[in-house]
Amino acid sequence: MREIALHILDIVQNSLAAGARNIWIDILEDTPKDRLVVRIKDDGRGMDEETVRKAADPFYTTRKTRKVGLGLPLLQANAQACEGDLKIASMPGKGTTIEAVFRLSHIDRPPLGDMAATMVSLLAGSPDVDFFYDHQYNEKVFSCNTVEIREKLDGLSLQHPEVLGWLREYFEEKERELRN
Ligand SMILES: Nc1ncnc2c1ncn2[C@@H]1O[C@H](COP(=O)(O)OP(=O)(O)OP(=O)(O)O)[C@@H](O)[C@H]1O
Ligand SMILES: [Mg+2]
Repeated sequence: MREIALHILDIVQNSLAAGARNIWIDILEDTPKDRLVVRIKDDGRGMDEETVRKAADPFYTTRKTRKVGLGLPLLQANAQACEGDLKIASMPGKGTTIEAVFRLSHIDRPPLGDMAATMVSLLAGSPDVDFFYDHQYNEKVFSCNTVEIREKLDGLSLQHPEVLGWLREYFEEKERELRN
């Protein structure tokens, strides 16, 4: 995939398919360590050990519509091409954590991409799920979650087009600020 944000959008679909109610998305950019870590954690149905072992194999999928599942294998291939790796930790009934590590300065590392658009489309599409977003860039952090946003909205729907438009601008501004 051309952008890490698109991988995140894709990996979160797995969490949603696993019935997650809470999804944590963490991005850590550390220039001194030259590392980019992307972590997606959910409280969905989880996987047993054998499923975890097979999950990064393109010929393993529990989807019924086709015989290959490419989300995790593609992310793994991308991370490994950038001197990084993919780790999957999961517990049946508890949830799953996917962690992808990249060498930040690697020539083949995909750009992060549009995290504001990614987060807003996730929020728009899953009104019953809570998202916890944390983006760290060296010592700066932008954290945001739907529990607090909903409280501030005081009954107004988070999926209201005007709210989504406002959220998009808010995310864009906060993401920009991280790099200044
Ligand atoms: N967060 C998760 N919770 C529970 N099971 C998961 C999770 N992520 C992946 N899996 C399991 O691993 C399989 C492989 O995931 P992967 O994203 O690689 O492919 P897919 O979702 O099946 O297909 P695609 O991503 O190409 O639409 C899934 O079918 C599912 O069984
Ligand atoms: Mg998938």
